[in-house]
Amino acid sequence: MWFGVDYHPEHWVYPYDGTAEQPEARWHRDVELMLKAGVNVVRMGEFCWGLYEPEEGRYDFAWMRRLLDLMHAAGIRVVLGTPTAAPPLWLTQKHPEILPRNEHGQVLNPGTRHAYCLNSDLYWTFSRTILTRLAQELGGHAAVVAWQIDNGIGGHGTEFSFNEETEHDWHLWLRAKYGTIERLNDLMGLRFWSQIVTDWSQVPMPKVAPTVHNPALMMDWMRFSSDSCIAFVRMQRDVLHGLTPDKPVTTNLRSLTRHFDHFDMADVLDFVALDSFATVKSAFAEHALEHDIMRSLKKAGVRAPGGDQGFWVIEQKAGNVNWQEVNTLLRPGVVRLFTYQAISRGADGVLYFFWRQPRIGPEKFYGGVLTHDGRGDNRAYKEVSQVGDELRLLGPALEGTRVHADVCILYSHENEWTQKLPQQPTRLFNLREHTLLFYKAFHDRNIAVDFARPSEDLSRYRLVIAPSLHLLAAGETDRLKLYVQNGGTLLATFNTGLVDEHHIAPTTGFPMYMTDLFGLEVVEFDPLPADAENHMNARGDFHITHLHPVRVWADVIEPRECQILATYAKDYYAGRPVLTQNTFGLGRAIYLGTMSQPSFYADLVEWLRATCNLDPLLKVPAGVEVSLRQKDGTRIYFLLNHQTVPIRLNLLKPMHDFLTGSIVSGAYDLPPHGVLVLDEHSVRSTHAPANTQSAPTETHTGG
Ligand code: GAL
Repeated sequence: MWFGVDYHPEHWVYPYDGTAEQPEARWHRDVELMLKAGVNVVRMGEFCWGLYEPEEGRYDFAWMRRLLDLMHAAGIRVVLGTPTAAPPLWLTQKHPEILPRNEHGQVLNPGTRHAYCLNSDLYWTFSRTILTRLAQELGGHAAVVAWQIDNGIGGHGTEFSFNEETEHDWHLWLRAKYGTIERLNDLMGLRFWSQIVTDWSQVPMPKVAPTVHNPALMMDWMRFSSDSCIAFVRMQRDVLHGLTPDKPVTTNLRSLTRHFDHFDMADVLDFVALDSFATVKSAFAEHALEHDIMRSLKKAGVRAPGGDQGFWVIEQKAGNVNWQEVNTLLRPGVVRLFTYQAISRGADGVLYFFWRQPRIGPEKFYGGVLTHDGRGDNRAYKEVSQVGDELRLLGPALEGTRVHADVCILYSHENEWTQKLPQQPTRLFNLREHTLLFYKAFHDRNIAVDFARPSEDLSRYRLVIAPSLHLLAAGETDRLKLYVQNGGTLLATFNTGLVDEHHIAPTTGFPMYMTDLFGLEVVEFDPLPADAENHMNARGDFHITHLHPVRVWADVIEPRECQILATYAKDYYAGRPVLTQNTFGLGRAIYLGTMSQPSFYADLVEWLRATCNLDPLLKVPAGVEVSLRQKDGTRIYFLLNHQTVPIRLNLLKPMHDFLTGSIVSGAYDLPPHGVLVLDEHSVRSTHAPANTQSAPTETHTGG
């Protein structure tokens, strides 16, 4: 288990710490405190270009080498950042053409970070030069185990740039995609408002205009901008792989919030890393979803430090953030709780952002492991040290364990982008909210969930949920059909298959290409006002516990071969189906024509659980989150109490508590924000895992 911090040694030299005689003295104290807290890895250097190269061509890597030596001597490993997220001021002064422009054509000025256009050839050249020098000077250092490319790629809205060089690349990209102007005009639907072009150079970038741009053009712009982000990372990866082939690369992602395709990005990385903003206690299901998505981005071909197969949380908040209206402190135990939540869902590395609250710059009141005073007697340091101690016991047992899910939720960036374009059927619909309704229903029953793009091989899953795949390519629908044909259960919803990948609506009815799969046709759809009053009536073997409202959207369904499980209660479509299922090949295709409230999804998941043979991981009271990491013969359960009151568990058989080394059984009060990590195997087996042999073993029956 990799456990560490994001360290900014450049903040901790004289005059901010250290002395005039020994300006770097603080680094030694930091290393001591890190070791005491159990730290075995740091990430650093991600904003240091101006310090490595204070003037063009004048380099200074010696200070970082001294620090790497220090880390190495202490046994702490390093993920070194490539410093391209913060170009030095001399560079933008000399070459202002590398600066990005926004959709109004305004230049985004230098003086902060991310002031570069991802399509600037010159910026690529300067980036290649600094990272080649960096890799040659420091990449071979024994302390370095991996690279972080750039930092927060696309951050601050810089996924899009509207300068001339971008326009040039945009036209090349379109030419490569469409081949001929005729194809472009046809597939992009440019006859609409007679926007046909006769030359590639006429195709606009979607800058501010009198009204909305063509959605097909917008979709290509999103794809092109995504490809630009990924190409920049790929370029860096290739340089680094060439010079330091044994050091895997990653970059710090946010959970799908940036405007590039995170699955494509994961393809060019050796392992995936997340900036987790898990700070809001009540949003623990959302935090869980973020981790599950990160784990799902790269399901194969992972090359992480130490041979691990999981993802890293490379920035886990160690305290309050600084960008909310009110940046409330995290309550005792919450950082520890969120650390275990990340680990429980497959993280093999957790690094806290950041080691110490800086005395300088805009992030000085952001929570850190150490406070400004740097003494190491503060609350966060003690909590992190406790986790460090615990991971010494738990870490070895987690090696090689993975999270396994039988359920998968489909998500694609293209589908989300298209639904964020203007002029949608309804502004009351939000894809994330819709996805979360399903996710939460599984999460609250402790049924593990993966995410996947519709084009992936889904055969490993027993159940696939497809919330509102508004845009579906023909290849994707083929995959879905194949999955069901071979015995899978697919549940899709309203707002599915309304357009193809070219943003063209079908003539063959909705859901496009899949009326045979679901045995029905959606002949009309009715976006509902917020005060609409309608509900569902259940039929057949689908049982409901409440009167479930029909919200946001109602598909008017013409049933064909499908079986009807629920109907609308009111309006001109009263009695028509709202929930159906259809046998297709060896499998089942379920269709849900509306959106409802959480209690409906609870009923739905109960029914799916029974019909798909899905078992919750453990039987626990509501409010306890359970996850499982396993490998042959080993099953390690994580039980997390996200509530502010104790929750009584009833453990039916004795289990080994990894964090204390004791055996627990019977009634057990999991304290507020408490964590239990349990393994039944080591109790049954005659020999305990090596890491627990020296731990005390006593029976604990209750809090
Ligand atoms: C991260 C970024 C950090 C810091 C943090 C603040 O995404 O990588 O450098 O700025 O956001 O929330």
